[in-house]
Amino acid sequence: REKNLVNDVHLYYYQGCWIPDLICSGVFSSERNFMARDDDIILSSCPKSGTTWLKALLFSIVNRTYLFALADNNPLLKANPHELVPFIYHSQSLNIETIPPPRLLATHLLYDLLPPSIKTSSCKIVYVSRNPMDQFISLWHFSCKLKGAEAEPHHLEECFDRFCRGIHAFGPFWDHVLGYWKASLERPHKILFLKYEELKKDTATNIKKLAEFLELPFSEDEEKQGVVEEILTLCSLENLKNLAANKNGTTRTGFPNSAYFRKGEVGDWKNFLTASMVERMEKIMKEKFGKYNFSFES
Ligand code: A3P
Repeated sequence: REKNLVNDVHLYYYQGCWIPDLICSGVFSSERNFMARDDDIILSSCPKSGTTWLKALLFSIVNRTYLFALADNNPLLKANPHELVPFIYHSQSLNIETIPPPRLLATHLLYDLLPPSIKTSSCKIVYVSRNPMDQFISLWHFSCKLKGAEAEPHHLEECFDRFCRGIHAFGPFWDHVLGYWKASLERPHKILFLKYEELKKDTATNIKKLAEFLELPFSEDEEKQGVVEEILTLCSLENLKNLAANKNGTTRTGFPNSAYFRKGEVGDWKNFLTASMVERMEKIMKEKFGKYNFSFES
């Protein structure tokens, strides 16, 4: 048991993963009881890798045939993406059995801890990863925001040290990333491995890649009609951040919806990390990722 970075809640070390106490019972129950269906789509990520963005993109891609016709009633304009694509471990408080197919569900669990039916069924997994330095800075801001504007911010150096030791929600980071990376190489039709940096660089190409992976490719007509660009704009940080649904209210975990939208930049770590922090993180990345020929842009 360890104190968490976020919200001072505790983390429990369970089978190689630090799990926040808020969701422990949901995790254990979903591990035992969740039955994946062949047409489920599961989004997985380490927190602060772009989960909310991917939830919005997946929801739009899957529902695009009717979404834009709904105009102002488009669910993404009325609800936070976490409401539309729930986490599996909230299944106790929401009846995921009644969600019409294809079910869009999410998890922050390590690959090794996924409920077995996710691996044995034909469901698809989309994983989004992010450079750990930006991810850490995003997590630090998130945790400070939860503390409140008036409160003393969390100590950056102390939080960084814990992150480097793998002690953060759903950490260690490198085990998270490598678990899905290795699995995606073995099962490329089942697991699509994405990087936040690449999504930012060329969102349209990645939207098409996602649709093809889900076996829902865009038709020529859709491309001509600009559906990809419509999805890109609908799910942009600027658009989502300024919607009333995302400015107000809280997620099922009890965190403010607004805390999930900040800068959305690549390389924001340069504004916060010292040279020695960067050196430490680069050394870890080299040690952990080097032998797998895996790296992040920095
Ligand atoms: P920053 O804190 O660096 O701005 P998660 O959804 O996994 O919690 O990740 C949150 C991070 O994704 C935050 O990063 C947030 O600003 C960014 N984000 C949220 N919505 C986004 C969007 N539509 N496009 C790009 N980035 C987005």
